[in-house]
Amino acid sequence: MGKNVWGGRFSQETDALVNAFNASIGFDRRLYTYDIDGSMAHCRMLAKQGIITEEECSKIQENLGMIKRELDHGDLLDHDDYEDIHSLVEKTLVGRIGALGQKLHTGRSRNDQVALDVRLYVRDAVHRVMGLIRENQRALVDLAEKNLHVIMPGFTHLQRAQPVLLAHHMMAYYAMLQRDLTRFEESLVRVNVMPLGSGALAGSTFDLEREMVAEELGFDTVSENSMDAVSDRDFVLEFLFNAATLMMHLSRLSEELVIWSSEEFGFVEISDAFCTGSSMMPQKKNPDLPELIRGKTGRVYGNLMALLTALKGLPLTYNKDMQEDKEALFDSADTVHICLEVMGRLLGQVSFREERLREAAGKGYLVATDLADYLVVKGSTFRDAHEVVGRMVLFAMDQGKELHELTIKEMKTFYRQIDEDVYEWLDPYRSPDRKKTLGGTARERVQEAISKAKAELSH
Ligand code: ARG
Repeated sequence: MGKNVWGGRFSQETDALVNAFNASIGFDRRLYTYDIDGSMAHCRMLAKQGIITEEECSKIQENLGMIKRELDHGDLLDHDDYEDIHSLVEKTLVGRIGALGQKLHTGRSRNDQVALDVRLYVRDAVHRVMGLIRENQRALVDLAEKNLHVIMPGFTHLQRAQPVLLAHHMMAYYAMLQRDLTRFEESLVRVNVMPLGSGALAGSTFDLEREMVAEELGFDTVSENSMDAVSDRDFVLEFLFNAATLMMHLSRLSEELVIWSSEEFGFVEISDAFCTGSSMMPQKKNPDLPELIRGKTGRVYGNLMALLTALKGLPLTYNKDMQEDKEALFDSADTVHICLEVMGRLLGQVSFREERLREAAGKGYLVATDLADYLVVKGSTFRDAHEVVGRMVLFAMDQGKELHELTIKEMKTFYRQIDEDVYEWLDPYRSPDRKKTLGGTARERVQEAISKAKAELSH
């Protein structure tokens, strides 16, 4: 007996190169628990429907259990002889219990079987990502709380823009991760659909109770169209897109950690345990970890494009092209898992250089917008105020001064209504607290955001 599951119609042995090229066992072996769980549920349903006897069912289940334990222990590692994980499990079963093992595949095709396995895998991967995202969010909230008093320059175009709280900056990443989390969570509605019973494409002549299989495997619904069920990989694409977006966020955070830890910025110090050195330059301490996270973002984007492209133009229903979904999926899942793990730990290893941040917020006319707002309070229109303050900044730059270093007399030449109370508005360290709009950087708003986050993290 060969190790393929489709030998009957063939009169020649398959060429070795064909086997090697066609096989997916090299990567789909990691689906084995899902494959066996799915087979067990299918088997119980076959018994309940009287398609096999209870006795047959017990024997099949018992042996599937044994095969699973052996796979857990790394046995049956001569895998490479099989085409894929489905053939491995089935052929091993048949090798042990003979013809009875062959009954397991009644009313089932590898097409609905692989769809089931991949859905079970994605469901687990989504839960794992969600847990890891939460750990990262916790680390961000911790940093925000610890640094609630720290003021820094906020940037646009990487130019100093307005003073903000470092905590507000951290909570911006919390918000991104919160969207990522809900995107993954909401995708489960489309992932958690049970395809078994669709057969190869058309359904089955047997009276299969699909709802029973769905319930046993924890699926919310069963797929509604057998042809769609075996050719749908949208749920994989959705995972790949969600992973790509998450990586984009991690990459932006990484980029900030990289530039902020440079001497030029000097905003943050990453602990030695989370940095590496140079083989030639003894003084170096490099932020390799955020760099790697930033770098790995590329492959996660690539996986999304690869599968989108592989699926484009495929006629219904199953086509072998779809086997290409797995390496992309596994690679993206592995990559986001490890990156989230590393980032979560890394965030616990950073300390901010409060003085540097404060100093940077104090220089570079970051309160110019506050001054314009002040002029509006004093009766100007904002557009005029913008123009006036622009000229004041130019004047101060010429003098080599910051705005608060100008005298009232000097300032009055630009706008008569400017008074002593202007200095309060020119203090960069009081600036954030004036931004009390919902979602603004005022301390009380940031504190509210932190409380809301903690409530979200606690359930
Ligand atoms: N290894 C295949 C895959 O990953 C399993 C399904 C094979 N189905 C088939 N009709 N050849 O897609």
